[in-house]
Amino acid sequence: MENRYILGIESSCDETAASIVKNGCEIVSNVVASQIESHKRFGGVVPEIASRHHVEQVTLVIEEALAQANMKPEDLDAVAVTEGPGLVGALLIGINAAKAFAFANGLPLIGVHHIAGHIYANALMQPMEFPLLALVVSGGHTELVFMKEHGSFELIGETRDDAAGEAYDKVARVLNIQYPGGPHIDRMAHESDEAVKFPRVWLEEDSYDFSFSGLKSAVINYKHNAEQRGIEVNPLHVAKGFQDSVVEVLTAKTLRAARQFNVKQVIAAGGVSANKGLRKSLEETFANEGIPFYVPPLKLCTDNAAMIAAAGTFMFEAGKRSDMAMNGRPGMELVSWHK
Ligand code: KG4
Ligand code: ZN
Repeated sequence: MENRYILGIESSCDETAASIVKNGCEIVSNVVASQIESHKRFGGVVPEIASRHHVEQVTLVIEEALAQANMKPEDLDAVAVTEGPGLVGALLIGINAAKAFAFANGLPLIGVHHIAGHIYANALMQPMEFPLLALVVSGGHTELVFMKEHGSFELIGETRDDAAGEAYDKVARVLNIQYPGGPHIDRMAHESDEAVKFPRVWLEEDSYDFSFSGLKSAVINYKHNAEQRGIEVNPLHVAKGFQDSVVEVLTAKTLRAARQFNVKQVIAAGGVSANKGLRKSLEETFANEGIPFYVPPLKLCTDNAAMIAAAGTFMFEAGKRSDMAMNGRPGMELVSWHK
């Protein structure tokens, strides 16, 4: 096969990113401009501020991705960009940059689903083996996705309320911890040897769905009750109690699904898959089970454009193309591209 070089662009939330990937599996360059600092004082992502940052950064990150790769636009085969889901104003900046770049350089354009991107971050580390089960856990998503082959996605479970990362960020806020709270709660949980006992939400016995809003409320109630009684709340114990509950439920449901669907590989993806407690729990569980388990290195777990370029390459090879009418799709569903 001829070498394929795909430029990926990602701007769905609070990172502006561009990356060049070779053959869908090798990172040539990977540039991420994070806006986290600008959103911290608001305790979350402010869409208007995000869009403004993307406008300022998008051309720079694309130029930087080309410079780091020591490549010119004519060396590329296509441009892949996050089409959705995400903040519409933020998505549109990346999409318009991608359209302009593709048009100016005569390159095909490919719209990529953000979650397909997170899943395909794994293709940058080792070949994906099918049938495969992906646990996708991010600020906006908590999903179990079954894949029988490349480009085939079957949603077997999802959150009915908050996403796992959203629950992390909300609990962090209750504990007066800065946005994004996930990494802080993770660190605090590891510093604690005691845990407050919070509920595990299993839903119906055979369900692969998740629910985290009750757990979040349990943390809030625990804090209020303690405060009313004048008992001091130890944030480390709360962090560990919360994390133990999230990790136990995510691990158990992923294991049950992996067994039922008889998969050859289990992967984790999305910002929360950077969580040390979750990684350890999944690694141990699947080592015992004898099913290969993979999770990308931390910087490929959170939002980046290499994952978009990787997914875009597999779409490119499957003949998928978008046209210049592409629009930001904030509620885009993950549909299979497999023919
Ligand atoms: O995938 P991502 O970068 O953006 C979305 O697509 O949402 O995920 C961001 C989410 C945030 O909620 C953040 O708190 C969470 O991932 N996160 C973590 C950790 N690192 C990032 N949650 C738990 N533990 C971590 N170590
Ligand atoms: Zn993401």
